[in-house]
Amino acid sequence: MPKTIIVSNRLPIKIQREEDKLSYKPSEGGLATGLGSIYKEGDNIWIGWPGLAIQKTKEKEEIVERLTEENMKPVFLNTSEIEDFYEGFSNETLWPNFHYFNQYAVYEEHLWLAYKKVNRKFAKAIEEVLEEGDTLWIHDYQLLLLPQMVRDINAQTSIGFFLHIPFPSFESFRLLPWRRELLNGMMGADFLGFHTYDDMRHFLSSVNRLAGIGNSNGQINVGNRPVLADALPMGIDYDKYASAAALPDTLDREVRYRTSLGDVKLILTIDRLDYSKGIPQRLLAFEQFLEENEDFQGKVSLLMVVVPSRDKVPKYAQLKEEIDLLVGRINGRFGKMNWMPIHYFYRSFPLNALSAFYRMAHVALVTPMRDGMNLVCKEFIASKLDKKGVLILSEMAGASKELSDAILINPNDIRQLVAAIKEALTMPEDEQQRRMHIMQESLKRYNIHAWVNLFMKRLAFIKKEQENLQTK
Ligand code: F6P
Repeated sequence: MPKTIIVSNRLPIKIQREEDKLSYKPSEGGLATGLGSIYKEGDNIWIGWPGLAIQKTKEKEEIVERLTEENMKPVFLNTSEIEDFYEGFSNETLWPNFHYFNQYAVYEEHLWLAYKKVNRKFAKAIEEVLEEGDTLWIHDYQLLLLPQMVRDINAQTSIGFFLHIPFPSFESFRLLPWRRELLNGMMGADFLGFHTYDDMRHFLSSVNRLAGIGNSNGQINVGNRPVLADALPMGIDYDKYASAAALPDTLDREVRYRTSLGDVKLILTIDRLDYSKGIPQRLLAFEQFLEENEDFQGKVSLLMVVVPSRDKVPKYAQLKEEIDLLVGRINGRFGKMNWMPIHYFYRSFPLNALSAFYRMAHVALVTPMRDGMNLVCKEFIASKLDKKGVLILSEMAGASKELSDAILINPNDIRQLVAAIKEALTMPEDEQQRRMHIMQESLKRYNIHAWVNLFMKRLAFIKKEQENLQTK
């Protein structure tokens, strides 16, 4: 029976070392939920890195055994692979280049070699389980070379690839010394999905400029193999967020948190620690808002959650310091005994706490400088059961293409951001509900399950096209 193999850098499980023991927690991420119905079925399997360096053979064996029971197969990375492949090429070369932070990008041969080596390691893990007729779904920028590596192992395999971050314009992509190899790696797939039409267009433009292959409606011919690229914005598990917002524990938390915060309007921001998220820019805008609107001082607070991420990468560590300084400065400047402008948390929270935050927030401020999609804004919308609340959303987030009823801003335009905060805090309730209703309906329809189905359909479609061509 042919199976589906999901491949991503991280597995949908968090393994942590607690003293001498390993602890296993299922991941709550959107991808894990969306693909849960697939990889847990029959012989299907999810291949990926368990998220930490494991040296002891005994521990490796324990992990393999434990994960096999849950249809997962680990790819172990040693410390230097974590440094050079994950922190290095993936997050110091590709991440800044794809997010238009080229001034942060590091171009080093040894990082590239580690990237190739680890992609090969993943290919080897796939080869160990790959059988005739299997379908592969590879995810994200850490594994751009993998589609072609698998194609070299078995030319007939169905290979889908989804990029979860933006695909940059050719002007950025061309700066990468290994642009051609990266593109060839991606073109090993049969179907390539992107969050937005622009990402897809940028990819096709690079294919044209670097490989001299033109497209017709997103279809390109790689040799004599038709390959399809399309825009498929990722949705969320809408019902999960809507139900979490109605749980007694969530309501309970909301009451407790509200009591502690007092009678203020709340602006919520939740991000992973990342310079692409525009956190300092947002803080500066909030500071300017308070400066220009004295009447709001004491009446509005920012609840800011920053989830630790990639903190061994120097730019991330620097960003953390910058944020700490800015928060300290703003709180020191405006704070009063009975009011803090910013409540800042540098940690992650369980779903019920996040759900209470979403419920409490009058405004969600989602203002990345660049973001493939951004799911936080979608989760905020799904949690607003009474439809009251306003989303301020950066036009640089993929989600802005779907959520045009948010207040859309350019995150570089601090004046616009300050005006948007005021507009959001003073928006009449019926207008809030009108906008929220439209956004909720669209997110309900294009949820994570619809996204998974559509991806699989597009992959099956192009495979059929290839078969038709062969039988002609
Ligand atoms: O946004 C891209 C992405 O890879 C997500 O899929 C993931 O949740 C996030 O970045 C976290 O990345 P990391 O694996 O580096 O913690």
